[in-house]
Amino acid sequence: MKLNPTFAATLAATLSLVFAASAHPGEALSKRQQEAHNARSVAAVNARALEVCQQRPEVKARKQRDIARRQATFDQLRQKRSLQNDAFFHRRSDADFQQWAASNHNFTGEVDVTVSSKDLFPSNASCVLAPDNANGPYFVSQELIRQEIDEEEVGIPMHLELQFIDINTCEPADVLIDVWSCNSTGQYSGISAGGQGGLDTTYLRGVQLTDDEGVVNFDTPFPGLYEGRATHQHIIVHVGSEILDNGTYTGGVVAHLSQLFFDQKLRDAVESLAPYNTNEIPVTSNVEDLFGGYASTAEYDPFMNYVVLGNSLESGLFAWTELALNTSSNWDFYAPYASTWAAGGGSDNPAFNFSVVTMPPPTHD
Ligand SMILES: *[C@@H]1O[C@H](CO)[C@@H](O)[C@H](O)[C@H]1NC(C)=O
Ligand SMILES: *[C@@H]1O[C@H](CO)[C@@H](O)[C@H](O)[C@H]1NC(C)=O
Ligand SMILES: *[C@@H]1O[C@H](CO)[C@@H](O)[C@H](O)[C@H]1NC(C)=O
Ligand SMILES: *[C@@H]1O[C@H](CO)[C@@H](O)[C@H](O)[C@H]1NC(C)=O
Ligand SMILES: *[C@@H]1O[C@H](CO)[C@@H](O)[C@H](O)[C@H]1NC(C)=O
Ligand SMILES: *[C@@H]1O[C@H](CO)[C@@H](O)[C@H](O)[C@H]1NC(C)=O
Repeated sequence: MKLNPTFAATLAATLSLVFAASAHPGEALSKRQQEAHNARSVAAVNARALEVCQQRPEVKARKQRDIARRQATFDQLRQKRSLQNDAFFHRRSDADFQQWAASNHNFTGEVDVTVSSKDLFPSNASCVLAPDNANGPYFVSQELIRQEIDEEEVGIPMHLELQFIDINTCEPADVLIDVWSCNSTGQYSGISAGGQGGLDTTYLRGVQLTDDEGVVNFDTPFPGLYEGRATHQHIIVHVGSEILDNGTYTGGVVAHLSQLFFDQKLRDAVESLAPYNTNEIPVTSNVEDLFGGYASTAEYDPFMNYVVLGNSLESGLFAWTELALNTSSNWDFYAPYASTWAAGGGSDNPAFNFSVVTMPPPTHD
């Protein structure tokens, strides 16, 4: 694995600034106080939104539809892979399955790939505002609108189902979702930074418009591990973009940016398999990650729910989560793009502001 030494040094320097900032709580506090007048506290927003949302009949109905949809997706994914007659990893009967599927649980820390999981497909029809996280240095603008983004990349197949709710209305959000991650050996496509895939690659990047339920689907391998980071999946939510005839989009405003994480036990299992285990980048665990702190609040869990499709990890994963955002937010400043995709190859963004890539928008407690 070759990392561009200049980039690695810059990243290390930036990360050490993050460390330095957190080592001086007084400074962080005064920065926070400066931000406070235009920042909405996640806690306050959540208290309001939860009160408004939770009792609404349409929210309760959506919760039931979410469970049914996830069950249907799971069944379809198994059928597509001819796994429908295989016991799946959790070895439940269909009746049990229905019963578990109807109940609600926090999966985080409870799903163990070697042990039966009790409940599948929980839905809280989320009205919990997801905090924004840092964008990282590798966002590519105007990527292709498509569900299948794995291209030729090898790895554990993962079907992602992401659901987006507008915190202002408790209704499914009508937005464009951008996702990206590095490949199984820790390299990103679409950017000119040394050691990465280059400007003429698009693997593991794509964009989807949410459907009537605020849902998008992507097929992508489970992400690899990048230098200094826990395994994560990037997402950006665009509001008001125009879809173009050539299968891309233009314009709009970034209203949410964050990173989704994966259970450590799942990571450990995946990362022990080829080709993940050929990645020479040193492992950063979830708890060691410097950006994990931005990712969650007491109410919002940034870990993906998941279920293994067959009786081994190689059969693939169905992973899902739901998150609420404020579609009126404008976080363009915090979402610089490294490059822009165009047919035949992308180009670097001459106005790329590297100094904000580790800076999350002020939607934190
Ligand atoms: C759903 O919400 C309930 C009540 O707020 C909570 O106890 C439960 O853990 C949540 N489940 C999930 C999957 O987030
Ligand atoms: C979910 O469970 C994890 C692990 O026990 C815990 O850290 C987290 O606070 C829980 N989240 C919620 C929303 O209950
Ligand atoms: C990951 O991407 C890099 C850069 O495009 C490529 O050289 C490498 O072969 C890919 N990893 C795998 C396992 O294919
Ligand atoms: C969403 O953001 C807008 C614009 O910043 C703000 O006026 C509104 O109060 C926010 N909504 C909630 C529920 O916090
Ligand atoms: C799509 O069209 C837009 C507007 O003409 C252009 O900027 C963009 O490069 C095109 N993208 C692709 C992938 O063809
Ligand atoms: C880049 O971001 C830094 C940090 O917020 C800011 O001070 C600077 O003005 C920005 N540069 C440009 C050209 O926008």
